[in-house]
Amino acid sequence: MPPGFGPGSDHDSLLQLFIDKGFSAAELAALIGAHTTSTAFKQAAHGVPVNAGQDSTPGKWDINYYAETYNPPAGVSRFDSDINLAQKNTTVGKQFAGFVGQQNKWGSAFAAAMAKLSVLGIPTSAQKDFADCTGFLPAGTAVKMIRSAPLAGRVYSESE
Ligand code: HEM
Repeated sequence: MPPGFGPGSDHDSLLQLFIDKGFSAAELAALIGAHTTSTAFKQAAHGVPVNAGQDSTPGKWDINYYAETYNPPAGVSRFDSDINLAQKNTTVGKQFAGFVGQQNKWGSAFAAAMAKLSVLGIPTSAQKDFADCTGFLPAGTAVKMIRSAPLAGRVYSESE
């Protein structure tokens, strides 16, 4: 994982890492939106409390992250990397700002970039043999207890 704080967490270094792997600034801006669900466990040294969210609704697949990186409400802990990538006068920041309030735009941009990320390093010759196994997955559930369980609500342990 690239550094969220300190050396290497600046805009240019992070963008270069993704460019080296074939991703554009727009794709990075979309992928980083995954932090709409995240909480941090190991950033206490940088003043981030254990289990602090990167937006006000961690575990929820919304787009609060984009707006709240600019204006964090109380309780939201931002990574320096996210703040740096959000700066509107930067290459990634211009794209980042374009996702504020744009759930559908972000949803489709994220899905496309994530599909690309998920096959990173796999030769296209092997990808052509991939089969869609979606049909074998269990259907979604309406059981309230499961639906309300926090996505990142696991017990933290040092051995992870
Ligand atoms: C610029 C690149 C990135 C940086 C610097 C970065 C940084 C971080 C940091 C510092 C954490 C907190 C880890 C902890 O203390 O537990 C984190 C968590 C997380 N990040 Fe990123 N990240 C980056 C890109 C991504 C991408 C591309 C995705 C997904 C598409 C992603 C998804 C997540 C998720 C889901 C978590 C929560 C993990 C958990 O619950 O343990 N991040 N990230």
